[in-house]
Amino acid sequence: MPDAIAYISRDTDGQLWKKALEAGLGPLDFRTLDGLGDRAGIEVALAWKPPPGLIASFPNLTLIVSLGMGVDHLLADDRLPAGVPIVRIMDAGLVGQMSEYAIYWALRHHRDIDKYAASQRAKQWKPEDFVDTIHRRVGVLGLGTIGQDTASKIAALGFPTAGWSRTQKSLPGIETFHGADGLKRLLAQSDILINVLPLTRDTRGILNAEAFAALPRGAYLINMARGGHVVDEALLVALDSGQLSGAALDVFNTEPLPPDHPYWTHPAVHVTPHIAGATNPRTASPGVIENIRRMRAGEPLIHTVDPATGY
Ligand code: GLV
Repeated sequence: MPDAIAYISRDTDGQLWKKALEAGLGPLDFRTLDGLGDRAGIEVALAWKPPPGLIASFPNLTLIVSLGMGVDHLLADDRLPAGVPIVRIMDAGLVGQMSEYAIYWALRHHRDIDKYAASQRAKQWKPEDFVDTIHRRVGVLGLGTIGQDTASKIAALGFPTAGWSRTQKSLPGIETFHGADGLKRLLAQSDILINVLPLTRDTRGILNAEAFAALPRGAYLINMARGGHVVDEALLVALDSGQLSGAALDVFNTEPLPPDHPYWTHPAVHVTPHIAGATNPRTASPGVIENIRRMRAGEPLIHTVDPATGY
């Protein structure tokens, strides 16, 4: 019986995952990219950015687990074995971190902290005009688990908060929009725009020149979803024209961000290295253990991914 777990990621050595899974499942035949051994023995693949075609070479695979809450990295492999179910991690720790990231940059922008930092460097005592919280409108793109958490926490701070999703959703205290028409309306009222969309065929490049033009002048962008949502040239033009006053970017079309990329030195851009939400095996493993148990017992899986919608 195949019962090995293949950990397919170059980001970490997987030892924390091994420990966390063994706490729930007992001793495991846990293999990593450097020692996959006999591939016929692999039952479950835990994957983050798998080399295309690799997963297809496991003949007895019964479950694919995305180590990211976003699954674009996995679905980019066009040779995934058809019929093997895909589930993703659902990590309350990661969700909370993502919201913290958005709240941090939203407040930093809202309270003009960058302007005060510049004033301090110039030894200038210079109070800025204050925008009331109830007049700083926030829009959240994507109302999945992360978007809902972010939107409700931002709303709890007193910001008028709206959200947009592909299909209609309703959330207490959040104005919701959906569809192409709804997107324009959401953008038109987002002084701070927070992106947490999944990257799919439909959302790639969604933050383009047209979207930036639809925002109120001086809007601020927080992108903690995927770099592929943003048309970089359009963002740079919008920043340079003042249409956008700034951007906090955690994700990029190319990661690591190349050394010569204009974002690194742009005065209105903050760059962080894809750290908004780090997967933590301690908080993410219970759902994975539950799915492995369910898969072995023939029970319905949780946190399943639909390759057709891309999330
Ligand atoms: C991280 O980017 C994730 O998708 O979990």
